[in-house]
Amino acid sequence: MAKDTVTIRNNTNGKEADFSLLRGTAGTPAVDIGSLHKELGAFTFDPGFMSTASCKSAITYIDGENGILLYRGYPIEQLAKNSTFLEVAYLLMNGELPSEVELSSFKGEIRQHSMIHEALRVFFNGFHYDAHPMSMMVGVMGSLSAFYHSELNMNDPEHRRISAMRMLAKVPTIAAASHRHSVGWPFIYPRLDLGYCENFMNMMFSLPGQQYIDENNYIDPIAVKALNLLFILHADHEQNASTSTVRLASSTGANPYACMAAGIAALWGPAHGGANEAVLSMLAEIGTVDRIPLYIEKAKDKNDPFRLMGFGHRVYKNFDPRATITRDTCYEVLEKFPSDDPLFELALALEEFALKDEYFIEKKLYPNVDFYSGIIYKALKIPEDMFTVMFVIARTAGWVSHWLEMMAEPGQRIGRPRQIYTGYDTRNYVDLTDR
Ligand code: CMC
Repeated sequence: MAKDTVTIRNNTNGKEADFSLLRGTAGTPAVDIGSLHKELGAFTFDPGFMSTASCKSAITYIDGENGILLYRGYPIEQLAKNSTFLEVAYLLMNGELPSEVELSSFKGEIRQHSMIHEALRVFFNGFHYDAHPMSMMVGVMGSLSAFYHSELNMNDPEHRRISAMRMLAKVPTIAAASHRHSVGWPFIYPRLDLGYCENFMNMMFSLPGQQYIDENNYIDPIAVKALNLLFILHADHEQNASTSTVRLASSTGANPYACMAAGIAALWGPAHGGANEAVLSMLAEIGTVDRIPLYIEKAKDKNDPFRLMGFGHRVYKNFDPRATITRDTCYEVLEKFPSDDPLFELALALEEFALKDEYFIEKKLYPNVDFYSGIIYKALKIPEDMFTVMFVIARTAGWVSHWLEMMAEPGQRIGRPRQIYTGYDTRNYVDLTDR
């Protein structure tokens, strides 16, 4: 029987060694090259982590070829259909679905931590009125590290748990405050009698003279369902750029709130969480169906930086299961909240056009989750510059789960990649007058 090893030979020095093949419960095995440098005198070079697993994790599994996404073993389709965001957050953080009692206590604790310190609220006044909400998210989440010192012993699992709960509980409050600052509206405090999504919508949209939620606490169930769904779909996605950033920052033992701010920064880019905002800007730029071929050609032109936003994924190479779900939800939401804006029709036409194009077929480029999420948010009246912030709220559940998993791991080491140096060889300093 073949040994579960891979043999690597360095032809430059004739050294050869066997390396174990590590297998998880599912998925592609990985060669454990931890001792490669010691054995063969070489590093691996893998910019963009095309073939590199950076950690072991039991949280999320993706099979990109078959469009499978599991949270703690549960298919995303089942969670999207039957669950709520907070239940999924509990699952990600704790490994199991909660009992009724556990869920109720989890929700209670989240409500209890949803306020932010008054001193922190004042931080918003320091931001220019037209600051992008994501810039405030990075700053204010990072500023949480200036609070809660008495519960920051990272060797204490209870301190870690409370820190994670605080981040999940406060992120919608900070998100809504970022929006309100950018439009000059007064800050609305969280309400402890509302659910997570309802409370967020209330903090976003209530005005002093006009409450978003009436005295019967009515809020359209389709809006709440859609928000829960998008939060569930965006909650985790294994070792994506922002989660890896949170893990790398945390590996130094840094303050967890500062590590989450690093994750938010990484998510902001248009190649990652910024794509949902970028999709709407792109659709607005395309404008009408007859201009689609022009933009398809631009996306294919190597000399043009334009890319079809909301298309392609590093891992999914046949379809993104989250995109299938958001597409269906788009129909439902737009039926309930119809709009004169022809964005959805334009998006459907663009999808149809791209999926028939040889370039997109050959490169296996399909719509990803964010192709439709922005259209849903827009129908719910969430402003475009808040789309990536919505992603932050959802992904906080994943970030804190990975952080909890990593911090509980014995023998955790600082993440420290190597490099191939391409600069000058040693040279002597030249005096200023001789240059
Ligand atoms: N439009 C046009 N061409 C594309 C696109 C696109 N959206 N995406 C990839 N390609 C081409 C790319 O030019 C490259 O061509 P070639 O092999 O000739 O050089 C090939 O497809 C492979 O692309 P890549 O950039 O090497 O692939 P990657 O795995 O490094 O990038 C990606 C994945 C998601 C960053 C990329 O597909 C992209 O930029 N998509 C648009 C942005 C987007 O929608 N991002 C959201 C991702 S889902 C939400 C999330 O998880 O954050």
